[in-house]
Amino acid sequence: MLLRIRKAKTSDKESILKFCQDTFSWGDYIPSVWDAWLKDGGLTVIENDNEPLGMCHHDFLKNQIWIEGLRVNPSFRRRGLASRLVRYSEKIAKRRNCTVSRMLIAQENRKSLKMAKSLGYIIESRWWLYYAKPRKRKSKAITVSNPTCVKEFAFQTFTESWRWYELDRHIIRRLVRNGRIIAYKNAIGIWNKSNIDDCIVQLGYLQGTTSAIQEIIKFIQNKGYLLKARKIQILVSDPVDLRAKTVNKMMPFYLLKKDLL
Ligand SMILES: CC(C)(COP(=O)(O)OP(=O)(O)OC[C@H]1O[C@@H](n2cnc3c(N)ncnc32)[C@H](O)[C@@H]1OP(=O)(O)O)[C@@H](O)C(=O)NCCC(=O)NCCS
Repeated sequence: MLLRIRKAKTSDKESILKFCQDTFSWGDYIPSVWDAWLKDGGLTVIENDNEPLGMCHHDFLKNQIWIEGLRVNPSFRRRGLASRLVRYSEKIAKRRNCTVSRMLIAQENRKSLKMAKSLGYIIESRWWLYYAKPRKRKSKAITVSNPTCVKEFAFQTFTESWRWYELDRHIIRRLVRNGRIIAYKNAIGIWNKSNIDDCIVQLGYLQGTTSAIQEIIKFIQNKGYLLKARKIQILVSDPVDLRAKTVNKMMPFYLLKKDLL
């Protein structure tokens, strides 16, 4: 095989999307993000003799590279293509002085977990996806207006539209400025309006005692109602457990991390 890794081009779309339809039991999200990923310049393909056989997308925030959308044509798997795509992204990241690479893999996706571990990734945390219904509700939670109230959460990770980032002083300040951090007693939540699907409102961070957390959930349900969202995704890391009446537990995911230094 004469493999070459390069930036994706418009003409790759058809060949790649052919094998990105039924990747998982529920289908695949690549067809809906391809155009945006092509435009942002983070989309890479691996080709053999001009035939695109695999893809990977990356995004940078500060010292982190986020790797996502790794796909290899089923007829060309177990030949090291995905590993090459990941190493290539890591190389670009190191050139930009990134110190950490992160990716998210469903707990049930054993082969991808094996691949990530073979490339030196370790499990950083486990996250649960829950769904809640948008509903008009009264909540005692309030929008945080003072960044110092949440500074102890620095270095923890939160998610925004299915990308995970480390909270630091600057990010906390930006989130506070945008009214995205909510609190009630000892509970803290961080919400966003998905940029993948604008009918989804997401709670991408949640910590606190069970009773205080309920007020954050009411807040996000009401926010979903006000923003006319179709659904609310709540992503929480262990050990928070939300098996309340208002939410349904869906799937566990692992957040994986590799130090690039
Ligand atoms: C996961 C995926 C990208 C791997 O692509 P690939 O090119 O076959 O991966 P590689 O050949 O680089 O595999 C590297 C290592 O991962 C592990 N691995 C990959 N596929 C595996 C499988 N089917 N069973 C067990 N281990 C597997 C092995 O340790 C492998 O090394 P080895 O072949 O020397 O044993 C590919 O199977 C795929 O597109 N799957 C569907 C989409 C998906 O799950 N993407 C990842 C979401 S995060």
